[in-house]
Amino acid sequence: MSETIQPKATIVIFGATGDLANRKLYPSIYRLYKSGKLDEDFAVIGLARRGWDNNIIREKVEESIQGLISEGEDVSEFTSHFYYRSFDVTSTDSYNDLKDMVESLEKKYQTGGNRLFYLAMAPDFFGTIANQLKNHGLKETSGWTRLVIEKPFGHDLPSAKKLNKELQAAFEENQIYRIDHYLGKEMVQNIEVIRFANGIFEHLWNNQFINNIQVTSSETLGVEERAHYYDKSGATRDMIQNHMMQMVALLAMEPPINLSTEEIRSEKIKVLRALRPIKEEKVSKYFVRGQYGAGNVNGEEVIGYQDEAEELKDSETETFVAGKLAIDNYRWAGVPFYIRTGKRMKEKSTKIVVEFKDIPMNLYHKKDDLRNPNLLVINIQPNEGITLHLNAKKTGNGNLTEPIQLAYHQDAQSGINTPEAYEKLIYDSMLGDATNFTHWDEVALSWEFVDRLLASWAKQKAEFPNYESGSMGPKAADELLEKDGFRWWPE
Ligand code: BG6
Repeated sequence: MSETIQPKATIVIFGATGDLANRKLYPSIYRLYKSGKLDEDFAVIGLARRGWDNNIIREKVEESIQGLISEGEDVSEFTSHFYYRSFDVTSTDSYNDLKDMVESLEKKYQTGGNRLFYLAMAPDFFGTIANQLKNHGLKETSGWTRLVIEKPFGHDLPSAKKLNKELQAAFEENQIYRIDHYLGKEMVQNIEVIRFANGIFEHLWNNQFINNIQVTSSETLGVEERAHYYDKSGATRDMIQNHMMQMVALLAMEPPINLSTEEIRSEKIKVLRALRPIKEEKVSKYFVRGQYGAGNVNGEEVIGYQDEAEELKDSETETFVAGKLAIDNYRWAGVPFYIRTGKRMKEKSTKIVVEFKDIPMNLYHKKDDLRNPNLLVINIQPNEGITLHLNAKKTGNGNLTEPIQLAYHQDAQSGINTPEAYEKLIYDSMLGDATNFTHWDEVALSWEFVDRLLASWAKQKAEFPNYESGSMGPKAADELLEKDGFRWWPE
């Protein structure tokens, strides 16, 4: 077994009092520590406006990992690595102070001068922070320096370009780690393995044998406390531009010549380049938008989007999007990729379904309505795993068939819960492995595609709400497939 690499570093978290730090970053750092992927030579500096101190952040970190620690476990050694400074991102004093602090902790913990700056806050200041870090010499170190950035990366292509320009004026592209947390999910990473380590799939992975590919990411939650952010974003910016496009790229890419970051990224970029742009006036033919009204989710009555907060009254923001993508290349010509995502839907689930073509003369299924096509279902979450849908003989006499499923459950196999995506991504960024982070070209190409949808929708009044909470979205999303002779799987 190979030895676990233990990167050392000072991790500086901008937005240390926020929800992301609390729910994801602190627990992930703790899990890395517990699993031996982080040793004693690390320090975490939390920064935010609030007037916390070292003791408060240590208490907060302890609270955030409550669910992970065993009874009676003393975590004070772990939390003692956390420090806090009240910080003003625009003030020179704050950066001077940060520099002193980083340098002194580097000596104390022998972190080799490695610095990971993690921007886990509202994006308005990303450019300013990157610039100030450079101007205050925080990049000058004997070790490595990396910048991890949370989404959203811009609001549209022009704003993303502007942000990228600001970041690239301060950091090299290979120092910038743009987070898409879906790329940290075990089963999203498994897409490449399922494809490129199995002849039975990869040989069939093209327009000769595949009818269509469907990617659905549905959520039961509504907008929660994020009305302000979400209403400016909507499902297109929040999920399609990043997570959904990334999954499509992984499903459609050509096999890379090796598994290096550059080669994988370059194949993904080619997919996004091959995405057929949708003309603004044709958007309604290929895309459906929706917004949830009141309804019942898992037995609970819930209110509609527009009633969730005062500022959402009469909102035309979409909480659901379904669409049909065409990838114009040799492998995929003629194969639709359907994508669908939304809030307040029937279940929390992310799933990929690859629908294979029927054989030329099916002796058992003469009628179309009896068709049980072979499906490969990749369950990204929950119940991580894959299921292959086949047809077998129905026990007894006659030539009747019945659908059967071969299933592999990732949890059951390895006996552990799927590690948090963030844990993997933080570890990767410390190791300098950018494979599961998005390259600027991917970000730009995705924006270019979704900007057309948004431009078209901005010009037409939406008839919202148009789906009930607890459903699988507006009827038009089903019709999108029906008019091509398909349907969303599973039913
Ligand atoms: C985030 C979106 O990127 O992904 C959220 O901003 C969404 O709105 C979340 O709820 C979904 O992630 P997951 O991992 O729960 O599927």
